[in-house]
Amino acid sequence: MLNGERIISKPLRWAMVGGGRLSQVGYKHRIGALRDNTAFQLTAGAFDIDAERGKDFGVNLGVDEERCYPDYQTMFAEEAKREDGIEVVSIATPNGTHYEICKAALEADLHVICEKPLFFTSEEGYEIKALAEKKGKIVGVTYGFSGNQMLLQMRAMIEQGKVGDIRVVDLQYTHGFCAADEGENISAAQKWRVDPAIAGPSFVLGDLSTHTYYMSQLIMPQMKIKELLCDRQSFVGSRAPLEDNAHVLMHYENGAVGTMWTSSINAGCMDGHRIRIVGSKASIEWWDSKPNELTYEVQGEPIQTLVRGMPYLDGACSADERLGALHSEGLSDAWANIYLKFAVAIDAKNREDQETLNNLVYPDIDAGIEGIRWIENCVRSADQGSVWVEFK
Ligand SMILES: NC(=O)c1ccc[n+]([C@@H]2O[C@H](COP(=O)([O-])OP(=O)(O)OC[C@H]3O[C@@H](n4cnc5c(N)ncnc54)[C@H](O)[C@@H]3O)[C@@H](O)[C@H]2O)c1
Repeated sequence: MLNGERIISKPLRWAMVGGGRLSQVGYKHRIGALRDNTAFQLTAGAFDIDAERGKDFGVNLGVDEERCYPDYQTMFAEEAKREDGIEVVSIATPNGTHYEICKAALEADLHVICEKPLFFTSEEGYEIKALAEKKGKIVGVTYGFSGNQMLLQMRAMIEQGKVGDIRVVDLQYTHGFCAADEGENISAAQKWRVDPAIAGPSFVLGDLSTHTYYMSQLIMPQMKIKELLCDRQSFVGSRAPLEDNAHVLMHYENGAVGTMWTSSINAGCMDGHRIRIVGSKASIEWWDSKPNELTYEVQGEPIQTLVRGMPYLDGACSADERLGALHSEGLSDAWANIYLKFAVAIDAKNREDQETLNNLVYPDIDAGIEGIRWIENCVRSADQGSVWVEFK
């Protein structure tokens, strides 16, 4: 159970690149990192592509004016000169900038927390992983939903054999916010998401399904995809070549089969993030709309609903518990859980505590690279005419 007491010796001096006033995701980072006031301290930032707006925003957040920088290059250079310089930076900018900012941050001897999809290619991922290892730094990836503690309950129950042998993996992350072509009124954040130069080789596969793919790996680390087939469409033609809808079929190495539906044109859908695992004994299901609950269905028995905060849950799940049963936890708590694990990982890395790192389950650089591989394989299949491809 978490109660806000410090779990590392002192808060890490933390900065952000991006995540400014108009950004979609910036506040999620701050609400996650600053929840307990004992893990991170917002110390500096290059919050915005517009330097003035970024400075005004940073000052309003309480950051010293002199530490609200016009760009990340200046921030890394100036902070390196200070005794109390930043120790870790979060990157919350559009996809196409992640690689260069991440590289610059590691070269400036900073730990990094970066948005997904991590980079455009797995080669970039391996290069940054090697650089992080050389520098002795952590690269965490903000798969924020994965901090929902009931996913750890799913992981424990699958590991304990409570669903039996896994046969079917049914994944979905969809919404309907791009059902209409918004023409000139389209938001800046939506515009870059369908520009391959900024978004990368995919839209919804990277924007949405990388979360769900990581969550599936979190709950079933033993399940490896052998081959997949991806069919992707641009229902709003101006989005081509990037997809606003995709279906993926998966064959796993153990003989299980899976599907992923990811979409931004699921019109009217306000609740489309779901994981259902079907095993030989039982099925287990989680919906983002009811993140405090798991449905556990044993063949031939009454359906059970497991509820967050209850003493019958696994220890790994309860360790992330904050509010107790009867009260709802949600996305902010999930982000706080992820950020707390980043803090523990950074602290352990600084102390060369490999045992803590080995036992910590959090979205690290390998999870980021795996997300890139997922996109690469899906795109390769789709672009060859939706054929089965070996998962490379
Ligand atoms: N983890 C999640 O749940 C989640 C949710 C939404 C977005 N994202 C990811 O977060 C990233 C940002 O997405 P968004 O929707 O917030 O984008 P956005 O367009 O809404 O905001 C981008 C922000 O970055 C700033 N920016 C852009 N280039 C910059 C630069 N070079 N230096 C400093 N600031 C810069 C912009 O001024 C803006 O504040 C993307 O990679 C996206 O995939 C993740």
